[in-house]
Amino acid sequence: LPMTAEVKGDHLYIGGVDMVELAREQGTALYVMDEADMRHRMETYLTAFRSRYENSDVVFASKAFINKAAARIVAEEGLCLDVSGGGELAVARAVGFPMDKVFVHGNNKTPVELREAIEAGVGCIVIDSRIELDRVSKIAGELGVTQSIYMRITPGVEADTHEYIRTGCEDSKFGFTMREDWAFNCVKDVLAAPNVRLAGIHMHIGSQIFALHSFKEAIKVMVELMARIEAEYGYRIEELDVGGGLGVAYLAEDEPSAIDDFAECVTSAVREYCAEFGVALPRLLTEPGRSLVANAGVTLYTVGILKTLPGIRKYVAVDGGMSDNIRTALYHAEYEPVIANKADQPRTEIVTLAGKHCESGDAVVVDMPIQHPDLGDIVCVFGTGAYCYTMSNNYNGQPRPAIVFVKDGEARVTTRRETYEDLMACDLD
Ligand code: LLP
Repeated sequence: LPMTAEVKGDHLYIGGVDMVELAREQGTALYVMDEADMRHRMETYLTAFRSRYENSDVVFASKAFINKAAARIVAEEGLCLDVSGGGELAVARAVGFPMDKVFVHGNNKTPVELREAIEAGVGCIVIDSRIELDRVSKIAGELGVTQSIYMRITPGVEADTHEYIRTGCEDSKFGFTMREDWAFNCVKDVLAAPNVRLAGIHMHIGSQIFALHSFKEAIKVMVELMARIEAEYGYRIEELDVGGGLGVAYLAEDEPSAIDDFAECVTSAVREYCAEFGVALPRLLTEPGRSLVANAGVTLYTVGILKTLPGIRKYVAVDGGMSDNIRTALYHAEYEPVIANKADQPRTEIVTLAGKHCESGDAVVVDMPIQHPDLGDIVCVFGTGAYCYTMSNNYNGQPRPAIVFVKDGEARVTTRRETYEDLMACDLD
């Protein structure tokens, strides 16, 4: 639940705003973000790390959620920003995000994107391959600058999560593999390359991770690599980025690790292995996306169709679906729904919230308890703040929903709803 969710009368309120009224005013489907919740988590992350490890920073992974308003909040809260290409970089630039706090990711950043990033003066480009090293080196040379870079390492650790979002294992398109000493050997090329400065190494082992031990195992691999680089190349790696991946609760019974436990695990692992391998403590970065925004967000829908298939299931069709939340169809993701205008009533029926798209797999939630549904009810689906808007699409000509930030009883539209004109904005006559 968003931090400020509460029931008043029979209505659900978030950020002091009545969700039923907001849905009537703004229409549905509608993304709503609890601004206090987002800010609180950002603060919690920074405090959790800085109180344990002074020389640390938190980098918000904008792929989880980004619009201009969110980018401004990230800047105000003092976090750095991870962009995974030219588009996210453009949002950061549009709001004047401090470019020295921007990290550029991606396994195939185009030469154009790389040039844009280097020209903009980004703090760090995370190099994902040998070929990319040469590209960055060449472009930085042409622009007459020395670009700080990290090397993304694939530590060969299997995180305990869905295979599509597991990224640290050996068979991965991301990063420099540790197999056959490839990563270690490439460090020599990186150190010899002109116009770049190897500032750090980076890992990201996956997403929606509950068990913290994989982070610890991967950090061991990384610190050991730092020690070898120092011993054999005489070069000190000054920064270590342990990526994101902390899981969140989508269902009441989910028990993810707390931000504090994650920070404790990571910082103590870094200290322990640095002592063990004789490495000076690096600047430490973590790169969370989901755990900063997932629980801050909800999606509001209106019930349009009710269909009971006796002995099979009850379908409640809403005015959105895989266009605004593809995670259910893609990963069998699960969410908790509630009827916002019956929030005080018990959830007595098991229903499937179907979307409005032309695909059987199009559902927002499958077989979950909810209050007795009627036509026109406003359904609120919790936990949709991460990877819903950023993965949204226009399937079946569906305009993207608006995004409203709520705080202290005020609702602020931060991204307007798309129009039919927007759908055709790029079409030429
Ligand atoms: N850093 C890097 C380099 C990443 O690739 C990611 C996520 C993150 C940080 C942030 O990870 P988080 O803290 O959000 O777990 N679309 C999927 C998730 C894909 C995650 C991709 N990388 C989903 O909806 O579950």
